[in-house]
Amino acid sequence: MARHENSIALMNKAVADELSAVHQYMYFHFHCDDQGYDLLANLFKRTAIEEMLHIERLAERILFLKGDVEMVAEHPVSKVSDVKQMLEMACQMETNSAAAYNRWANECGANADSASKKLFEDLVMDEERHFDQYDTEMDHLKMYGENYLALQSIERSKRTGMGGPMGGAGA
Ligand SMILES: [Fe+2]
Ligand SMILES: [Fe+2]
Repeated sequence: MARHENSIALMNKAVADELSAVHQYMYFHFHCDDQGYDLLANLFKRTAIEEMLHIERLAERILFLKGDVEMVAEHPVSKVSDVKQMLEMACQMETNSAAAYNRWANECGANADSASKKLFEDLVMDEERHFDQYDTEMDHLKMYGENYLALQSIERSKRTGMGGPMGGAGA
């Protein structure tokens, strides 16, 4: 299936992008968890897990086409610990991924590889949903400012005070 070499190369670029997203979102998760922002901590963790599942789908397709998976992240993690900057970066990452996957879907289609095209299209749907989730949190932060973050910390204190589960443990 040498004619699918181009698809394999594109999917390995996607794996690199997804690995960076997993690392970056887990870094954001650790810092939100450390600051007591459970809602955001869980959102970043859930999204990181979804990006990991994207890697799995890409890897399965790459191996099916007799390629191999290059497990190399595209970027090192950016050490951003300010919540507003985290959300801005996450929105930008999702926008970039969706744009690239749209282009690569078309490239795979042009090379008569409609299954890889379909995979990229499925990923676009997910990345647009991720963007929307981060964008909504950004709106809340703009609307309610520091209160939005304070509320998340208070929620955790209440649960801890009442002997409920500690924040960050559940996802
Ligand atoms: Fe993804
Ligand atoms: Fe995403």
